[in-house]
Amino acid sequence: MKITECITVVRGSVVEMKADAIVNAANNSLLGGGGVDGAIHRAAGPELLAECRTLHGCATGDAKITKAYNISNAKYIIHTVGPVYSGTKEDPELLASCYTRSLDLALQHGCGSIAFPGISTGVYGYPLDEAANVSLEAVSGWMNAHPDAGIRVYFCCFRETEMEAYRRGIKE
Ligand code: AR6
Repeated sequence: MKITECITVVRGSVVEMKADAIVNAANNSLLGGGGVDGAIHRAAGPELLAECRTLHGCATGDAKITKAYNISNAKYIIHTVGPVYSGTKEDPELLASCYTRSLDLALQHGCGSIAFPGISTGVYGYPLDEAANVSLEAVSGWMNAHPDAGIRVYFCCFRETEMEAYRRGIKE
């Protein structure tokens, strides 16, 4: 499957995306933080934090799902924990796993669409071009392995620089 058949790159905040699942770039505690994590918790309201407390954290590269509460444009929030960029070979493996584990959960919960932010590309320091390539490869690999999933994938670029990285990644 060609990358552009299953992926749409859009400019904007993942918090406002209309999709069955929106993905949160969380930390291991799942108890909130800054960046997109803070924006999602503010928009979803305190019930989200209450549900997150029952999940007992999340390993780096893994994902967990909750309801979306006051975020009415989505049904679910998938919380995934990207690697803090360290320049080692584990970085791309863990980052790819964030995307594929999130897609696994979306499929298990019958989602027809999922919207990702640039996981690890903010506070966690993952270089944008490398992160765009890893995410594009991970999602297209997962789609090829699940040809009947029927999940539309949106990459939400909060910054113009992220959009440019995806444009370059898709052309390569
Ligand atoms: N709304 C939408 N997207 C945003 C926002 C926002 N307010 N702020 C940043 N982004 P980041 P990470 C985009 O730093 O690198 C948190 O404290 C940003 O442009 O949120 O995975 C967690 O609790 C980028 O594309 O996440 C963790 O401790 C994307 O969101 C840590 O940050 C991810 O940037 C995770 O770091």
